Amino acid sequence: MSRKPLISGNWKMNLNHFEALKLVQELSYAITREDIDEVDVSVHPPFTDLRTVQTVLESDKIPFQLGAQHCHNETSGAFTGEISPVMLQKLGVEYVIVGHSERREVFGETDELVNKKIKSVFNAEMTPILCVGETLAERDAGDAESRVAAQLEACLASITPEDVGSMVVAYEPIWAIGTGKTASAEDAQSMCAFVRSTVSSLFGAEAADAVRVQYGGSVKPVNAHELMSQPDIDGALVGGASLAADSFARIVQYRNQA
Ligand code: 13P
Repeated sequence: MSRKPLISGNWKMNLNHFEALKLVQELSYAITREDIDEVDVSVHPPFTDLRTVQTVLESDKIPFQLGAQHCHNETSGAFTGEISPVMLQKLGVEYVIVGHSERREVFGETDELVNKKIKSVFNAEMTPILCVGETLAERDAGDAESRVAAQLEACLASITPEDVGSMVVAYEPIWAIGTGKTASAEDAQSMCAFVRSTVSSLFGAEAADAVRVQYGGSVKPVNAHELMSQPDIDGALVGGASLAADSFARIVQYRNQA
């Protein structure tokens, strides 16, 4: 099976809706239809920018997919400050990042909660991007694989193999996020292959063959080509470098760096 790469920009808590509009317009000039034939592109602005970005994507027929960074697992109710998957779906959101390490570390999200969110994202007919990854201490102790396997097993509990095959898993080693320290292409490939083999043992070969595995952690124009050339890396989840049109477009156009 050939998996179409997905390059996603996770803007985190950056850019107000005016800045978001400007960035999307700049990206639409830099990224061509030919690029989109080869690579899916999603942008994940803060909640307050979603409506603005949706409007410009729709009115200017810009072929990027809209993503969110987070959601609650319930459909509605007394959850002050939260946003439900159904609300996102109504805004044209197609992908929702779930279980980002910043949400796990700063907001105490557990694997069990991440599992509930994945189910509710599917129920609202969107695609989850599940983030997994180890800390530096876990890597140094030789526990990177066991940590990632445990996250996959708990976060994907009782999801059907068909749904697992349709989703995206982002391998993001925590020590590489926002640090400028990218995993070597060999380490990134080996962990993304490990994600796929774990999916295979939990959900079967078909799901493993179909699931798209992204690498995230200090992806930049200079390392995108090497990372994206690895057989088990099907895309990138980009933080800092997705905030400027030039650097994000060059990552999307990694093929030109061959
Ligand atoms: P950086 O690309 O800034 O390291 O962030 C990676 C990330 O956390 C994407 O979700």
